[in-house]
Amino acid sequence: MTGKQTTRTPVTSKAKSIRTTKPMRVGVIGLGLMGQGIATCLLTHGNVVVGFDSDRKRYKDTLAHARTAIAELKKQKLIEPTHSASWKPRLEFVDSMQGLSGCSLVVECVREDLELKRTIFAELEMIVPRKTIIASNTSSLPISLLQQNRIAPERFIGMHWGEPAQIMRYLEIIPGDKTSRQTTKAALNFGLACGKEPAVLKQDIRGFLSNRMMYAMLREACYLVESGIADVETVDQSFRNDIGWWALLAGPFRWMDLTGIPAYAAVMDGLLGELSNQTETPKMMQQMVKRGALGVANQKGFYKYTKPSAAQWERDWVQFTYEMRQLAEKYTPAKGTK
Ligand SMILES: NC(=O)c1ccc[n+]([C@@H]2O[C@H](COP(=O)([O-])OP(=O)(O)OC[C@H]3O[C@@H](n4cnc5c(N)ncnc54)[C@H](O)[C@@H]3O)[C@@H](O)[C@H]2O)c1
Repeated sequence: MTGKQTTRTPVTSKAKSIRTTKPMRVGVIGLGLMGQGIATCLLTHGNVVVGFDSDRKRYKDTLAHARTAIAELKKQKLIEPTHSASWKPRLEFVDSMQGLSGCSLVVECVREDLELKRTIFAELEMIVPRKTIIASNTSSLPISLLQQNRIAPERFIGMHWGEPAQIMRYLEIIPGDKTSRQTTKAALNFGLACGKEPAVLKQDIRGFLSNRMMYAMLREACYLVESGIADVETVDQSFRNDIGWWALLAGPFRWMDLTGIPAYAAVMDGLLGELSNQTETPKMMQQMVKRGALGVANQKGFYKYTKPSAAQWERDWVQFTYEMRQLAEKYTPAKGTK
């Protein structure tokens, strides 16, 4: 590569100073893996969080998650002192969805089940004021489908967060066919105020952006293993050392710019027709699910784990995420902070 080398400086302090909306009263429905992280992220940016889950045990878990994560963010100097000192009274739990009536935004985080989400939205619409924005953290369901038969579909939107939500810059904002521009703008501003670098889609599509790219990759990874080309560990190794090496700095298009576009066009010519295009869930995935493999969560996955080794992977993931965030802030400042 040619070109003048420039010295880059971290933009953390600049990024932190972006606040485009005032702290809000935000409801979170479903306090599982994602809901706990999202609630924590909201607290770290000064919002009041009103949590609701049909399983009351999740309230204790959410409190513990927020306590641990906020202590770590404080250690990493990634939270304003006023917010780390004041988070606990800003976290409330309610016995029914009725308790969300005073929220100006509600983020739904229950499991990926269209009918369950629809039932929740139908009830919620009768509780919150008409101007309350209702966001779904669905990973794949088209927002236009979730908007169907709603009284005020213009205030429904997709806000797709990543895990750990309190650390990552990732957020995708997906307007459905009937989402108003006002709702999209408000969701974007809220995401910025929560320290994210939101990616706003122009149109609704199943799986959105990152999940579509990830699932294309997962399908091919399964195909390579099932066809006997390489084992799981070898596929992972190759992915980490190639795509994993550049993907934080450059997206696919920046990567082609960096390394020469014609070569990619030439490879596409011969290769695309040979990539997997199967539409069924790969057998190896079906078998994993059948044997109850959750991954590190129950020490059953593509690799062997003991309880301590699984816990170590989880700790490493969080630490790695902090270090990646520092790199991202150094080399790819969030949009609008340059
Ligand atoms: N897991 C991920 O990495 C990830 C990433 C992005 C988006 N998502 C999406 O986020 C959503 C939640 O995923 P998750 O992994 O946190 O699920 P999860 O199973 O960990 O948590 C779901 C929570 O919803 C609660 N719940 C179920 N029915 C309820 C009801 N009627 N009212 C209130 N609470 C109810 C459950 O008790 C549980 O605590 C899904 O739509 C998923 O696709 C997941």
